[in-house]
Amino acid sequence: MSWKSRPDPRTIPAPLIPAAVEARDLCFSYPDGTPVLRRICLTIEQGESVAIIGPNGAGKSTLLLHLNGILKGTGDLRILGLEPRGKDLRTIRSKVGIVFQDPEDQLFLTSVAHDVAFGPTNMGLDAGEVARRVKQALAAVGMEGCEGLAAHRLSSGEKKRIATATVLAMRPEVLVLDEPTANLDPKARRRLIDILAGLSVTKIIATHDLPVAYELCDRALLLDQGTIVADGAAETVLLDETLLAAHDLELPYGFAPPCGPAGPRARRGGSDRSVKDHRGGAPPARAVPGVRSPTG
Ligand SMILES: Nc1ncnc2c1ncn2[C@@H]1O[C@H](COP(=O)(O)OP(=O)(O)OP(=O)(O)O)[C@@H](O)[C@H]1O
Ligand SMILES: [Mg+2]
Repeated sequence: MSWKSRPDPRTIPAPLIPAAVEARDLCFSYPDGTPVLRRICLTIEQGESVAIIGPNGAGKSTLLLHLNGILKGTGDLRILGLEPRGKDLRTIRSKVGIVFQDPEDQLFLTSVAHDVAFGPTNMGLDAGEVARRVKQALAAVGMEGCEGLAAHRLSSGEKKRIATATVLAMRPEVLVLDEPTANLDPKARRRLIDILAGLSVTKIIATHDLPVAYELCDRALLLDQGTIVADGAAETVLLDETLLAAHDLELPYGFAPPCGPAGPRARRGGSDRSVKDHRGGAPPARAVPGVRSPTG
């Protein structure tokens, strides 16, 4: 190549950072054939905190179970630039940690310590590092001292906290949480919110706890009947009472947007700041083409 034909280095694009999640026309049905995910198109950039809200049966958990290949639908899906199949599945599972909606699905060993150590051990970490991570993860969820207990003897909220610890101990790049505050008492809920707010990883949180979505997430997706019906800045989607009501959701009575020190919005200096969004700027909740939104 002559010097004349060599590209100007200033015009060479920087290496692209793959999106955390890139779905195109993702469809899924359980074996009974009922469509649960209907042509989901979605991009979540690395570093985003995204809430997935929607009524019971909307398909939130089903969508999350696609993010590390537990379920496989049709259409295109890439996680951190990789297809969740074949040899890349293992890589994805080492980088994407999912806390299941039902903690019973996550806890299957003879003691809490074994359950929490399972992921870090599988990652090939040495025993000292595994022990350190187990200790830190249990402290993060306020369950230190429970190492020797059998998970099936714990309460529902305690199981949820241990299930969350199993994933925190892996320090995933993408943290996927399905109803993380379900069954937690207020102190445990607050502790978890503060821990999550302090993690600068990609967070994808399916929740009916809309104040948690507001506090932790920059962006909210509203899913109903397997379709994304709204996608926008968290404050836009979550404070739209008409939109929420049309999809069987509502903020709890007396909810006022928090202005305390927790949460990405507050850390950036107030709730009126623009959403960090791969489309740039702070988009309004946008109706997805072909889907009627009550907000127009
Ligand atoms: N294992 C399964 N087999 C068959 N159908 C299922 C299965 N799991 C879920 N479904 C169906 O798929 C639909 C979506 O379920 P999903 O659990 O994804 O909803 P969700 O939005 O997470 O609801 P929730 O708010 O209650 O957690 C529901 O109608 C449900 O009946
Ligand atoms: Mg669910």
